[in-house]
Amino acid sequence: MDFTVTTADPATRKTDALVVAVFDRRRLSDAAAAIDEASNGHIKSVLADGDLDGKPETSLTLYGVPGVKAKRVVLVGCGKSGELDLRTYRRATTFATRLLERSGAATAVSCLPDLRVRGADAHAVARATVEATEAARYRFDEFKSKPETPTHPLKGLVLAVEADARKASEAGIAEARAIAAGVSFCKDLANRPANVCTPTHLAEQAGALAREFDTITTTVLEESDMAELGMGALLAVSRGSRQPAKLITMEYRGARTDTKPVVLVGKGVTFDSGGISIKPAAAMDEMKYDMGGAASVFGAMRACAEMGIRANVVGVVPSTENMPDGNATRPGDILHTMSGQTVEVLNTDAEGRLILCDALTYAKRFEPDAVLDMATLTGACIIALGAHASALLTRNDGMAKHLQAAGEKSGDRCWRLPLWDEYQEQLKSPFADFANVGGRPAGTITAACFLARFTRDYDRWAHLDIAGTAWTSGADKGATGRPVPLLMQYILDHHVQA
Ligand code: BES
Ligand code: MN
Ligand code: ZN
Repeated sequence: MDFTVTTADPATRKTDALVVAVFDRRRLSDAAAAIDEASNGHIKSVLADGDLDGKPETSLTLYGVPGVKAKRVVLVGCGKSGELDLRTYRRATTFATRLLERSGAATAVSCLPDLRVRGADAHAVARATVEATEAARYRFDEFKSKPETPTHPLKGLVLAVEADARKASEAGIAEARAIAAGVSFCKDLANRPANVCTPTHLAEQAGALAREFDTITTTVLEESDMAELGMGALLAVSRGSRQPAKLITMEYRGARTDTKPVVLVGKGVTFDSGGISIKPAAAMDEMKYDMGGAASVFGAMRACAEMGIRANVVGVVPSTENMPDGNATRPGDILHTMSGQTVEVLNTDAEGRLILCDALTYAKRFEPDAVLDMATLTGACIIALGAHASALLTRNDGMAKHLQAAGEKSGDRCWRLPLWDEYQEQLKSPFADFANVGGRPAGTITAACFLARFTRDYDRWAHLDIAGTAWTSGADKGATGRPVPLLMQYILDHHVQA
């Protein structure tokens, strides 16, 4: 969609819809006050009738407002004026976008970007506007025989801001467009069913990215290559599947060649049946999203390339299915990982850590400045944090601080759990160096403890468990595009070359 900036008086703009804020209770924003004045008090007199008091996620559409060129004026509730933060701002924008998509308006001018939002400058507000608008417009209808597109889709949004905010707003729009493209790409991949989105499909997507962007190169390792590298854990997971596993690497180079990269590692289990430790049938379809970590790596790679960000970023995606089969790995089997450590598989459903451990060992060859892995790793994470925050586990306090701050800023939050050595004891095995599961208590932490044994060579390593944040269950089920915004914020704030 087209996003532009205007600094002209909104009342004079010819458009299908003019969006202005009303605060709780019936307090006019500056833009609403200007429209009220241009219309000789029309807004105030309508509000006096009590149809809108300004609470979040409420609205009122007015037609034929005198003194205004717009066909409609959409009043959007934004809550208490002093309390408007980015979170409420995004909600209001999402609400307004859904409303406009249902209306006959093809173009709109939004005065919301001109609001004073706590803790956010014009750049951040413009970014939030574009990201929330694009997220609200997202649809996944690849597999609908008749696409459910709105009859009058929104084609362009003009952000109305003060003259001195033009430059910052335009920069925010550009950044947000790239992030939104990454988020949509991530959603598309994660929403695709497992009979289409196989490890081979992901490898093809990486190839397509490399063809689309000169700044991205990609390599795909086959199972024979992995065997040569000694990736016994990754290969143990793919044994039970007819689909060949792939180890996909995407390299984005936007900074000097001597700048060490950020390496993003994403769990790419395109379907997790549990393997021989098979899962119960209920909601097993959702295990097609078990490549949500991989999808976020693809999304971040796209966002980096579209932004032309001055950073070096490498994406590593170990991808496989986890299926039961006569050839599948059994509980009790002992594996040799690429690191040389041995693992006793006590539960074949704890497969994510098995593919990640070899990918994390593999990542060493990129001499990373920081390593971040993203994985829909544990159901326990959903129990601990629900859908609001990804779990963050790291030994590095500085990195924890940076990632938590990036989460707050981008609205894609994470929350730290401890990674104390005491938890490592749960992984003890009498037969191998350690086991792949640590029992029910602290399941998210023991999963990270497992990964920690493969990342000792990295000063900066963090693990994000996105089991609760990567998708929404229920009637409106689907991928969320998280944690692409968090990853991009972290890279923007800490890995862009000066
Ligand atoms: N992909 C699942 C984790 C998961 C479960 C993500 C539900 C999203 C929703 C993972 O591979 C898994 O099965 N984990 C097991 C680990 C257990 C066997 C230690 C789990 O969480 O039950
Ligand atoms: Mn599993
Ligand atoms: Zn899994």
